[in-house]
Amino acid sequence: MIADLSADEEKILNDVKIRLAKYGKERGQLIPILQMIQDKLAYLPHITMEMVAQHLDIPPSEVFGVATFYNQFRFNPPGRNPVKVCLGTACHVRGGDIILENFERKLEIKEGETTSDKEFSIERVACVGCCALAPVTLIGETVHGNMAPSKVEGLVMRVQIEKEMKEREKQKNESGQ
Ligand code: FES
Repeated sequence: MIADLSADEEKILNDVKIRLAKYGKERGQLIPILQMIQDKLAYLPHITMEMVAQHLDIPPSEVFGVATFYNQFRFNPPGRNPVKVCLGTACHVRGGDIILENFERKLEIKEGETTSDKEFSIERVACVGCCALAPVTLIGETVHGNMAPSKVEGLVMRVQIEKEMKEREKQKNESGQ
């Protein structure tokens, strides 16, 4: 078992290994390979970048350097409630970056990071297609339009309360009450 991966991820990793064998060994394959891995795992674990380096016969530092150059790649597993702050043009001009800062402050993590309890992660995304509601943030699959810095705390709290309610309900069902 690979230390920093869950059993599920390990299974997917074996799949990545098989898929990797189908890619050529030219440097031009690097980005498509990284995209394939991120599609599978939702992030690029360090170990996969080493696998890619081995496959393309280039130093791991080169793979890492290219991956960090592009905004599309993330290096931490997303949280159970991924916060995606839209910074497309419409959202940017309506203060999307201030929304992003507020989430970072509230959750005490930076964009691209995941909270230690794995509940939340933050990332910036390009236009999500509902500019009329700008500025927009997604938490999980839910779209929150007309965002304001003052709404950030309430949204985070709502997710936490919903989680607590679900846990209580589960406990109640388990104890047969
Ligand atoms: S720019 Fe944010 S939804 Fe279009």
